[in-house]
Amino acid sequence: MTLPKHIAIIMDGNGRWAQLKGRPRTFGHVKGTRVAKKIITACSKKGIKNLTLYAFSTENWFRPQAEVSLLMTILRRYLKRETENLIKENIRFSVIGDLSRVPKDVAETIGKSIEATSKCTGLNLVFALSYGSRQEITEAVRSIAARVEAGELSADEIDESVINSSLSTYPTPDPDLIIRTSGEQRLSNFLMWQAAYSEFYFTDILWPNFTESHLDEALHAFSGRQRRFGKVSANDNLEKFPN
Ligand code: FPP
Repeated sequence: MTLPKHIAIIMDGNGRWAQLKGRPRTFGHVKGTRVAKKIITACSKKGIKNLTLYAFSTENWFRPQAEVSLLMTILRRYLKRETENLIKENIRFSVIGDLSRVPKDVAETIGKSIEATSKCTGLNLVFALSYGSRQEITEAVRSIAARVEAGELSADEIDESVINSSLSTYPTPDPDLIIRTSGEQRLSNFLMWQAAYSEFYFTDILWPNFTESHLDEALHAFSGRQRRFGKVSANDNLEKFPN
């Protein structure tokens, strides 16, 4: 079975899952975190090289203060409790997104986890946190413009590789597979440049109900996809095309 080198997941449906149980939305985030932990371990065991989890978007700052605050607490607690396990599992942790908006104690905990796992050589685990693709692309354009202004680069030299290496995801390869749970079928400002040739897998399962078997189903679907990256496959008979 062909495994994706990079899986990116939009973990959606925590709030609906909790509401269906008559519980506050935050209960869904707590359960969602336990699921994230299991899926991280499962990806690591399967030998997936890169996993990006959309943990908090730039738009999520507009949620009620209590929910935002609980999500930050969850993240901090997760990292404090899990960093030792990440090291044991040889998982290297990093973050993409605008950490200047994240509370100082959370940013410090993130920094410590990044440092503590920096020598790990297994799964590259990335949390997209306070992340938005438009903001990321805007930042990249700004940094390239500054290099042009400083005379380090000419406008003609700006190509896809210059843009690629100016994005926060660099040098992680583009996601081969993007999974979104909960029945929604959109990208929601996630890895828009990087998703140019990603395969999408949408499932109605709400994130707190997502299990390793659902991950296996997604991997199975991925291995059956023909990825042509805009080209034709070697077996395509062009002469059969109708006039
Ligand atoms: C989407 O569900 C989920 C989020 C906005 C947050 C995702 C965060 C977690 C799973 C917890 C933190 C993660 C880690 C890895 C520590 P939603 O609230 O939009 O659900 P809804 O669409 O049903 O309202």
